[in-house]
Amino acid sequence: MTLSAEFVVEGGRPLRGTLRVPGCKGISHRALLLAALADGRSQVSGLAEGGDVASTASALTALGVKIKRGSDGAASIVSGGPDTFREPTSPVDCGNSGTTMRMLAGVLAGCDLHAVLVGDESLSQRPMRRVVEPLRALGAQIDGGANATLAPLSIRGGKLRGAEVQLEVASGQVKTAVLLAGLRADGTTVVSEPFPSRDHTERMLSALGVPLQRLSDRSVSVRRGAPEPFELHVPGDPSSAAFYVVAACLIPGSSIVIEGVSLNPARVEYLDVLREMGASIETHVDGETVGEPYGSITVEAAALHGAEIRSTEAMVDELPALAIAAAFAEGTTTITDAAELRVKESDRIATLQQELAQLGIDVATADDGLVVHGGAPKGAVIKSHGDHRIALAGAVAGLAADGTTTVRGWRAIAVSYPDFERDLAGLLGEA
Ligand code: S3P
Repeated sequence: MTLSAEFVVEGGRPLRGTLRVPGCKGISHRALLLAALADGRSQVSGLAEGGDVASTASALTALGVKIKRGSDGAASIVSGGPDTFREPTSPVDCGNSGTTMRMLAGVLAGCDLHAVLVGDESLSQRPMRRVVEPLRALGAQIDGGANATLAPLSIRGGKLRGAEVQLEVASGQVKTAVLLAGLRADGTTVVSEPFPSRDHTERMLSALGVPLQRLSDRSVSVRRGAPEPFELHVPGDPSSAAFYVVAACLIPGSSIVIEGVSLNPARVEYLDVLREMGASIETHVDGETVGEPYGSITVEAAALHGAEIRSTEAMVDELPALAIAAAFAEGTTTITDAAELRVKESDRIATLQQELAQLGIDVATADDGLVVHGGAPKGAVIKSHGDHRIALAGAVAGLAADGTTTVRGWRAIAVSYPDFERDLAGLLGEA
């Protein structure tokens, strides 16, 4: 589907019905990387279709991994494991995807080849020291721009030794990079974080036979090993679901069910926040796949009130959607401990403040968060700042606001949810 430069929406129409959101981006990246580390053929279906996961797939292809994509996110991945990777002949393009760059750095640290990882303008400004330092602690030869703080990253892979690594920032991406490097290191690698971060990697590696041990909710160890080839259907993305969940809460008369979505507890904390704000949300677990629980989320419209939200890594991607919920809630919502928002695809503290102001909502900012004074947002022209989650949050605001909203820079959604409009049309009864 070709995306137009702008998304124009009339507010106030209820969302009704059942939908499935695209495959979880975090699980999709990991599925491709773990399949590449396995020796044999893996079959994955339901992969996220957006540009970010495509960046991981094309990076692995550049390393000689054979990936055949089918329809509906199906892929067959054939690899001989990292000892058979070939040296890429040109820089590997990670596009807009921080997950691709950071996790791949962990994979490459222990492979006997040289590779340079580059990204687009936004990714080139995002912090990389956080992944460079921990990998160096395992003996990796890795360097980067601006004194090893930014992309491009240059990695001369080789022998690694297990170490105890303490991360400065809780990060699912960096933890994964260290764990994947740890699979290639002699001895035991322990990675600890100041706070728990999402645990897809631990769940998947354990399910695929890797010697991994959870020492606490913020510390995990791994020894040399490789995942077995596997078959997996990727559950839906809770972060993509968040946009409909918030819209359905806000628009009177809405009632939706999102099926087949990951209900990993480390990804659905935002549902608890919305419940605390007065939302009517139920979840039902249907099963588990490669260690990941999945099921349905049911949402009915309900009046929301302000709340104090202390961010965790587990809900950082949903804060733009939660900020929209706050804009429509009665009273004030305070979001704290969210400094990481400043180093995402845009400075989301600044971009949320700027765009909520367009809708007539007063927002104060701090270094680590926002204070949103809820009100009655009015349709407006807002900008994505090249950031997919700001674009989609803008769409949610437009769906719930009075009047017409235009989201400029709409093509930014291509990295995570190119088919958003098709799925939305189904809920609006337009499909
Ligand atoms: C991710 C972790 C988070 C998140 C990102 C995906 C992951 O980033 O924002 O979208 O898949 O592990 P951090 O590692 O910076 O917390």
